[in-house]
Amino acid sequence: METRAIHADEALADAHAVAAPLYQTSTFKASDALEFAAMASVPMHERFYTRYGNPTRAQAEAVVAALDGAERAMLFASGMAAMTTAILACVRHGERIVAQRQLYPGVGGFLQRAPEWFGIDVAFVDQADTDAFAREIDARTKLVVLESPSNPLLGITDLPAVAALARSHGALTIVDNTLASPINAQPLALGIDLVMYSATKYHGGHSDLIAGAISGSNDLIERIWHASVLLGSALAPFEAWLALRGMRTLPLRMKQHNANAQAVAEFLATHPAIDRVNYPGLPSHPQHDLARAQMTGFGGLLSFRFKGGYAAADAFVGKLRHAARAPSLGGVETLVTHPASMFAAYESEEVLAQRGIDAGLVRLACGIESTRDLLADVEQALPA
Ligand SMILES: Cc1ncc(COP(=O)(O)O)c(C=O)c1O
Repeated sequence: METRAIHADEALADAHAVAAPLYQTSTFKASDALEFAAMASVPMHERFYTRYGNPTRAQAEAVVAALDGAERAMLFASGMAAMTTAILACVRHGERIVAQRQLYPGVGGFLQRAPEWFGIDVAFVDQADTDAFAREIDARTKLVVLESPSNPLLGITDLPAVAALARSHGALTIVDNTLASPINAQPLALGIDLVMYSATKYHGGHSDLIAGAISGSNDLIERIWHASVLLGSALAPFEAWLALRGMRTLPLRMKQHNANAQAVAEFLATHPAIDRVNYPGLPSHPQHDLARAQMTGFGGLLSFRFKGGYAAADAFVGKLRHAARAPSLGGVETLVTHPASMFAAYESEEVLAQRGIDAGLVRLACGIESTRDLLADVEQALPA
């Protein structure tokens, strides 16, 4: 993976520039009518019009695809743009989506509106209940929407089992692999059709861009590209350039994210102020064996619940010295949030609490600081 992150785009690279050139241009000129016609008719042509394609974006997309072991990838203006474009490319009025209930609330919110906005039927199931997927996936189902591990409770979906179920009904599967990153999980190798990311997170890695990504087969990415041209959801060149620079160090960064979250999770698991730690790398996680079977590392994000409820959670967040109180994850710096407050724009307090996102829950997105310093910071912020 370290080598792919550096060299996978070589076929598209400039012959002399060591770093990728930034093609900050909206449009490209043809030398004659024939060349113009060729540029206009080739899907994902990278030198026609930047909403269609762009050389900097194509270079970054080559690295995304290589990291996922995919034929092709596409970069979008955000993770939400990636997921919504894929959904609209794969499902029509009168067809059905089966989705797990534990989704990033933006994606869940879009799916909740899909019946009213698009006439698409949506069934939600528990990600841990593979039998529920079997009951809901039927001949009308065109897409199964998954997220593993899920944000912010770190639930795991049995990806090979759900992929096989979907395939037996002719439905496609898409998994949001943001929390794992391609370094910790390879869903395409498990039979999933499309892998989606908020590339804002680990791919970018420095909390300085908003981007999304999808990897899959040539055919599926081309289908999604046709929808993206109409929706205008592709990533702009400068953001693609930043994402490419970020991806060069993704494998290295993930090792430290994984180590930091594992150490903090193990430390909190025995602390008397905490009644539950959600992290798939802990043997106490109810799906630890499944996580180990389909992941090689467990990522930088964990959540945990304070016995003392909101007051204890907020006191902890306020005392941390190395963690900014900010949404998002995947950057080099540690961030901390209170998910029930963060997701209030999408769901009511009652619905969030029913899903386990209650007032005592804290989400820690470990950065790549030294493990020792991070642990010391967490320890000093906890009640004595
Ligand atoms: C798991 C997950 N999926 C999707 C998204 C949406 O991505 P973006 O904010 O890049 O649109 C996020 C953002 O926080 C996320 O955490």
